[in-house]
Amino acid sequence: MRAALLAGALLIAAPAAAQPQGEGAALAQRWCAACHADGARRAADAAPSIPEIAQRYAGAPERLNAFLQAAHGPMPNFNLSRAEAEALAAWLLAQAPR
Ligand code: HEC
Repeated sequence: MRAALLAGALLIAAPAAAQPQGEGAALAQRWCAACHADGARRAADAAPSIPEIAQRYAGAPERLNAFLQAAHGPMPNFNLSRAEAEALAAWLLAQAPR
């Protein structure tokens, strides 16, 4: 139990020191995974999967960035910093299916 708590604390502390990709992955896991599936499967009915998002925004990171910094539709406003939004966008775009 104690070890599990410690592991949890380390997971939360890790993104700050990680590479942008790692930070983006951690942000997506924390804020996006509930609604956006990371495989081909859809999590929430209306929400596109992360590979679908990557395909939709391929070659347009600035559009994805702008999207991530604005509140919209059913998504909560995450108040991401510019650096967080960039890390998240970079990670999302790297998830395109190959
Ligand atoms: C509460 C559920 C929910 C959460 C949490 C959520 N989303 Fe969404 N998202 C949706 C739904 C539903 C849609 C589709 C409807 C729409 O586009 O308005 C969507 C659409 C999108 C789109 C597609 C926009 C387009 O071009 O059509 C992107 C990109 C996106 N979300 C990114 C994210 C990211 C990144 C996160 C985490 C920071 C996130 N979402 C968290 C529900 C959610």
